[in-house]
Amino acid sequence: MGFATDCIHAGQAPDPSTGAVTVPIFQTSTYVQEGIGQHKGYEYARTHNPTRRALEKNLAALEGGLDAYCYASGMAATSAVLTLVKAGQRVAVSDNVYGGTHRFFTKLLSRYGVEFAFLDASDAAAFDRAAGEFAMLWIETPTNPLMKVCDIAALAAAARKRQALLVVDNTFMSPFFQRPLGLGADIVVHSTTKFLNGHSDSVGGVAVVKSEEHAKWLQYVQNAAGGILSPFDSWLVLRGTKTLALRMPRHEENGAKVARFLREHAKVAKAFWPGFEDHPGHEIHKRQASGFGSMISFELGSLEAAKRFLPRLRLCSLGESLGGVETLISHPATMTHAGYTQPERDALGITNGMVRISVGCEDAEDLLKDLAQGLEAV
Ligand SMILES: Cc1ncc(COP(=O)(O)O)c(C=O)c1O
Repeated sequence: MGFATDCIHAGQAPDPSTGAVTVPIFQTSTYVQEGIGQHKGYEYARTHNPTRRALEKNLAALEGGLDAYCYASGMAATSAVLTLVKAGQRVAVSDNVYGGTHRFFTKLLSRYGVEFAFLDASDAAAFDRAAGEFAMLWIETPTNPLMKVCDIAALAAAARKRQALLVVDNTFMSPFFQRPLGLGADIVVHSTTKFLNGHSDSVGGVAVVKSEEHAKWLQYVQNAAGGILSPFDSWLVLRGTKTLALRMPRHEENGAKVARFLREHAKVAKAFWPGFEDHPGHEIHKRQASGFGSMISFELGSLEAAKRFLPRLRLCSLGESLGGVETLISHPATMTHAGYTQPERDALGITNGMVRISVGCEDAEDLLKDLAQGLEAV
């Protein structure tokens, strides 16, 4: 089936008991059993839930995976995947990943004897030479918020050489634009909170796998650790993915207009978007993804400038998150990347004057007008 057809139908046959076109919200904690060990495959809702299962099948199809497992948030999906790593092992991480991921790795998991090395993975050959041994490589591409591009296929080869796993957080691109499993990644993670759900009304996460072994383990972790996605949130994300193939081209069309507008604006020192032809990762991104998306960062020069700009906006909403149909704008240094220390942010180039925008599906002209009037205050 084509991608748009899978968005609408994969995992979602009409309900056999009623013919309902949409998958029902199975809001139940348990299931009646006919006798000891006799049931319809459902015993307890932490272990199995038909609404969640429908979403998992849907997302596995969209990412081209064998199976998928949904968790209570993107961070819960990340934590499930990190159970594949043991004490004493080393994880290589592309630098400037989402601040919450950095916090989880450095402040929490490091207490359990796992070592994390944050490295620039935007030059795959240099990364391969410098990285040393590792059991897992965790990347985002484009990175958050500097929009550096990592070569998925080349990094998959670097991981394979070390018999390590490559995990790609594909939240920024969604499977509409980028499908890392086909490029050699072992596991794809999403915050479904973002483009997959698309409507800023649910928090969730998923890990999509391509091996039977990882499928078994991640299902086991759902049951054993318990951080599962609720039936209602599963249903919301299922509703979201139905329109993924409609929303993403609009996000991108608007994203391109906003990126070009920002880059030309006299008050903007620099704009970061992989769609610019002179972006260092432009060619790699074009090879591995079918679009550039609508995540853009830009530099206003100082915290004061950002503080003057952000409250002036009327249509773009100041808030932490991304990927909704409404345009969301954020200040990485104090919001999404507050988990990094100032010296860490300085080393990466996440300045206090940097603003990140997730361009939504409004009329582009209205967004440009709003940004223009906001920039008058800078
Ligand atoms: C790229 C990326 N990955 C993971 C997460 C974590 O997802 P959640 O907020 O659903 O836990 C986020 C959240 O902003 C994110 O931007």
